[in-house]
Amino acid sequence: MCGIIGYTGKEQAAPKLLLGLKRLEYRGYDSAGIAVFSDGKFSVCKRKGRVSELGGAEKLRGGCGIGHTRWATHGAPSERNAHPHSFGRFVLVHNGIIENYLPLKEECEARGEKFISETDSEVIAHLLEYYDRGDVLSAIKETVARLKGSYALAVMCRDEPNVLYAARRKSPLIVGKGEEGLYLASDVPAIAECRELYSLCDGEFAVLQGDNIRFYGEEGEIKKETMKLVSKSDIPEKGAYPHFMLKEMHEIPAAIANSLINFEDDFCFSGINIVLCQTEYIQIIACGTAYHSGIAAKYAIEALARVPVEVTVASEYRYRDPIVKKGTLALAVSQSGETADTLAAAELAKEKGATVIAITNAPDSSITQIAHFVLFTRAGREIAVAATKSFNAQLALLFSLATALAKTKGRQTPSLRPLPALAEEVLTEAEKMKEIAPILLGAKSVYFIGRGADYCTALEGSLKLKEISYLPSEGYPAGELKHGTLALIDEGTPVIAVLTQEGLAEKTMNAVFEVYARGGRVILVTNLPEYAARKEVYRSILLPKCEELFSPILSVIPLQALAYYTSLARGNDPDKPRNLAKSVTVE
Ligand code: F6R
Repeated sequence: MCGIIGYTGKEQAAPKLLLGLKRLEYRGYDSAGIAVFSDGKFSVCKRKGRVSELGGAEKLRGGCGIGHTRWATHGAPSERNAHPHSFGRFVLVHNGIIENYLPLKEECEARGEKFISETDSEVIAHLLEYYDRGDVLSAIKETVARLKGSYALAVMCRDEPNVLYAARRKSPLIVGKGEEGLYLASDVPAIAECRELYSLCDGEFAVLQGDNIRFYGEEGEIKKETMKLVSKSDIPEKGAYPHFMLKEMHEIPAAIANSLINFEDDFCFSGINIVLCQTEYIQIIACGTAYHSGIAAKYAIEALARVPVEVTVASEYRYRDPIVKKGTLALAVSQSGETADTLAAAELAKEKGATVIAITNAPDSSITQIAHFVLFTRAGREIAVAATKSFNAQLALLFSLATALAKTKGRQTPSLRPLPALAEEVLTEAEKMKEIAPILLGAKSVYFIGRGADYCTALEGSLKLKEISYLPSEGYPAGELKHGTLALIDEGTPVIAVLTQEGLAEKTMNAVFEVYARGGRVILVTNLPEYAARKEVYRSILLPKCEELFSPILSVIPLQALAYYTSLARGNDPDKPRNLAKSVTVE
């Protein structure tokens, strides 16, 4: 959801800004731009499209600058709407949404000020100019006091050519010290070279000048603790893989192994163990892929621990006045830990008295500041916009939690230990999807079906396919097909059926027969070879057996591969699907 970067120091700013923006591109790639201060003025270079479009920008001379890579919210992706935005003495980049920008803009226009872009962000530059009476930090404070919504801001003022100002509310912002200067960025890898890093909290400001970073809160100057430094593996590299998505799929076995938790064996989980003992009801709140992991968790928790679970999309939870009973545990699941709806839903659950456990892949993310407890999936950084390994890691952790909860109720639980090795086997089988993907190419739409735990896999398979292949697709409970969607199945319609629940196999096969009878082509993903051999099955992928409740962690892998190869076959970039971004920090 937009990435911002800033540098002030002894070296040329432009190459550093461009490198940082490249590393932030997963947050949006509708337009990119940088501004560098030199010879008493700002030089700005901005273009529609990716950072690679900023040809010539590296030649801008000057040791202080800011940059932006955009995911468009207000105003089309265009050069005119690209950041940095400037007015008067100020130039800035912004990540977030200014909800009240229209009345503020009208106020500025009433003063005769002209706007260049259609963005919400430009109004901030106008307000800065209006409130500036010689003290830039005060002008920033007065400006942000007028803003409703979210922002991570980097500001430069013509009167203070080597100073960077930063402010944050509900959008992530990190500042750091490197050997040769000071940095700010939306995310750590963009400034991985820093030897000291600090995460700004909501309502905080930073001033970067010379060798010093000064922090300010509402009451004045504050001291801040440094964050953990980045290791080299945190810096995104594709290595020998053509795309991050493929690389990240190959990291699934490790992501699972690293995210399994044995709650009883580790003293640091004693607080969570106490919470689990008191848990009578669970609410899972999440968005997109993370929401699908919540559905799989519901099946596992209810079956293993017999504790009722409600799974709600966070954007619905936050606005529906949810009922939070005594003994409610809210699990807020978010790979990025920055999804605006999930953060708001977690805050609401906490306010209403639930104990909130955040499940995230991002240490120091905003969700860790909200939750009572945090559990980290250890998938490693995920760069491809389409989530893959982080989903498998969420399942590993949620299934671990399900077994821990079951144990507190004195119930037997199956082992999770075989899963990483089994995932390795599935990755090899999933390569067959390269040959199967062309079947989807001419399709008007593609359907995914499954029952029980396989329903979650169907939903996730469908989401993956739409987001990177742009083919219309839906995921359904297999039993629902005949209640309407069957009308859409005709000659050649691809239907991907997931079948790993032995007790439900005959039932799911009924749906397969119904599809076949109408000319549909069924691709079966199953661990039951006897069904793969049926004449009604057009192509099949065979999975190894595992505990049925945990099967989505394996069965999703071929579906991730199907989406990847279909995306490639359609000439798309699977890592950077159109209109999407990795971290959805806006409503
Ligand atoms: C799909 C995808 C999104 C995210 C969703 C939530 O591949 O990545 O649907 O799952 O935006 O993001 P997090 O988990 O960061 O809260």
